[in-house]
Amino acid sequence: MTQDSARSAPVALSPGKMVDGYRIVQKIGSGGFGVVYRAISPTGEEVAIKEYLPGALARRAARSDRIVAAPEKQALYRTGMRCFLEEGRALAQISHPSVVHVLNFLHANDTVYLVMNYLEGASLQQFIMTAVSLNQPKVFRESTIRSLFDEILRGLRVVHQHTLLHLDIKPANIFITEDDRAVLIDFGAARNVLHNDGTYLQPMFTPGFSGPEMRQKGKPIGPWTDIYAIGACIFSCMKGHPPPDVARGEGESQLSQYMLQLRTNYSENLVDIVRRCMAQDPQNRPHSVYAVQKMLAPIELLDQEVEYSPSDLEVRNPWSGRIKALSKLIAS
Ligand SMILES: Nc1ncnc2c1ncn2[C@@H]1O[C@H](COP(=O)(O)OP(=O)(O)O)[C@@H](O)[C@H]1O
Ligand SMILES: [Mg+2]
Repeated sequence: MTQDSARSAPVALSPGKMVDGYRIVQKIGSGGFGVVYRAISPTGEEVAIKEYLPGALARRAARSDRIVAAPEKQALYRTGMRCFLEEGRALAQISHPSVVHVLNFLHANDTVYLVMNYLEGASLQQFIMTAVSLNQPKVFRESTIRSLFDEILRGLRVVHQHTLLHLDIKPANIFITEDDRAVLIDFGAARNVLHNDGTYLQPMFTPGFSGPEMRQKGKPIGPWTDIYAIGACIFSCMKGHPPPDVARGEGESQLSQYMLQLRTNYSENLVDIVRRCMAQDPQNRPHSVYAVQKMLAPIELLDQEVEYSPSDLEVRNPWSGRIKALSKLIAS
């Protein structure tokens, strides 16, 4: 594989192709790690299918649908594939209206596929762009921001209760459905491990949404890293663009200036929530998602914080057998 072909967008499966009984309708997204399709399940349901196809490691064979890894990148390709399955395994444990739901896993074309429920709507990123184009003094109303993030935080709380992290929360990975639900999509486990493997495929962090600990070796990553990204998302809904990247020289002082400007249109309290979530030192951020929820909503509207015992977290995972089988296949 040449450098150029490694960088070009992967060739998507064409409409009408079948993948283990699922019929591809069209490509709906693609990134460095794969392609997302709208498809129809064997029982006629609309689904979204994510195909593992990391453009820097593999490509689709010329006259078939098979995915071929570059010979020198086989090991990394397989590691990434296991992590991609891990993304699915993590998601399959969670059933919450604000977290995208995994329905199935497939193995075909020498790669793996994640089948999810199909969400009708648009990403928060698209909503922000539309709101900005309206040229109003406020991008979103404060009440809209508070209720939207209350919903997102309910989903994220469940994610953290399963000792999982999202690690790539940004408006493009928050989906707003036509029936007005906010849903977290695109859990970044694959990115993470590919990066930890010592190979830098593409920045695993999104500038502006990543706390400084994402770039500093040896600094622990945890729920506080997702909380930073939540602060950055709220900022984006207030300002209409992402916050500056604090890793850049001017970034931190620019961020402080923006915080002052935001006070013109939003309450001191909301600006303070963003400031605290985006504190450079994770210790100074709210200590849990629930704490952010409490700051965003009047207490009487909140669920009680629930203490979870380990047995509560052992959610039955109907896919665990299937994932084990797939993992073995990949390892062989
Ligand atoms: N379950 C889904 N239903 C509908 N559209 C989806 C779904 N999952 C992803 N998409 C679409 O595909 C795009 C890319 O998906 P995502 O999971 O964010 O992968 P990546 O950003 O790694 O390419 C999303 O922005 C969204 O438009
Ligand atoms: Mg994404």
